[in-house]
Amino acid sequence: MGGFDLTGRKALVTGGARGLGAGMAEALSRAGAAVMIGDLLEEQGRRTAESIASSGGRAGFVPLDVTDDDSWAAAVAATISELGGFDLLINNAGVEISSLIVDLEPKQLRTMLDVNVLGVGLGLKHAFRAMRPDGPAGAGGAVVNVSSVAATIAFPGIAGYSATKSAVDRLTRVAAAESGKLGYGVRVNCIYPGLVANEMGTQLAQDMVTLGLWPTVESAVGDVIGLTPLGRLGETADMADAVVFLASDAARFVTGVGLPVDGGMGT
Ligand SMILES: NC(=O)c1ccc[n+]([C@@H]2O[C@H](COP(=O)([O-])OP(=O)(O)OC[C@H]3O[C@@H](n4cnc5c(N)ncnc54)[C@H](O)[C@@H]3O)[C@@H](O)[C@H]2O)c1
Repeated sequence: MGGFDLTGRKALVTGGARGLGAGMAEALSRAGAAVMIGDLLEEQGRRTAESIASSGGRAGFVPLDVTDDDSWAAAVAATISELGGFDLLINNAGVEISSLIVDLEPKQLRTMLDVNVLGVGLGLKHAFRAMRPDGPAGAGGAVVNVSSVAATIAFPGIAGYSATKSAVDRLTRVAAAESGKLGYGVRVNCIYPGLVANEMGTQLAQDMVTLGLWPTVESAVGDVIGLTPLGRLGETADMADAVVFLASDAARFVTGVGLPVDGGMGT
């Protein structure tokens, strides 16, 4: 893509050790931002940061459990001290556990609520505190939350996940309204990625077979592609480029919206 310059920006990417988050961290770095990766996966997170640094970017790793308030405080403080500021937060960490509604397990649903909803809520809290004019970073900025096409369609087997991703959508809109009204100078948007055939996406397709909803993984994936006007699954770069756009000044008058990055599958 190119054209969306992030030179001088300081970003924290949650769940950036692998998958979409790693791709987002790499794309932010290519656009000029210094990047901190925050994740539970320490070894993998450090490797991803090293790989960005070896391509000429500025990157570090900080241990972060997005469900924990103190962990957020420490990760944001580390980002500010290591990068010299903090003006971009990518709330990407998330978990997906498929289940039919008749088999919902409280523990599994609570895990998704904790990571996907509480994690994004706490991220917004700590980003606002740091980025608003009286905060330790103090220069405003942008937050991009990662929702899902699951928030915009009704797909069987992922009711709990879809509910948490719909919550991310609402958190985004209310956060943008509060930031504007209270003069924080922070734009807040989200993306709704379509299915990507990485670890999470492949597991989801497999789950559809395990749950008896499709006969084979190929037929489940084929139906998703059939519902997608652009006729393919998503790729990491599709999501990463959208995040760079929303983080950049090219989106300077964009806040409180959700951007579908799903080939047209969602509504
Ligand atoms: N893969 C897809 O098809 C797809 C589609 C739509 C939306 N999404 C969303 O995109 C985001 C990234 O997904 P992915 O496909 O890269 O999945 P992934 O499982 O590969 O990566 C998720 C990352 O989040 C981290 N994480 C999980 N719990 C955490 C916690 N409590 N604290 C900190 N980090 C934590 C994991 O360690 C991992 O590095 C998620 O929010 C997911 O819901 C994915």
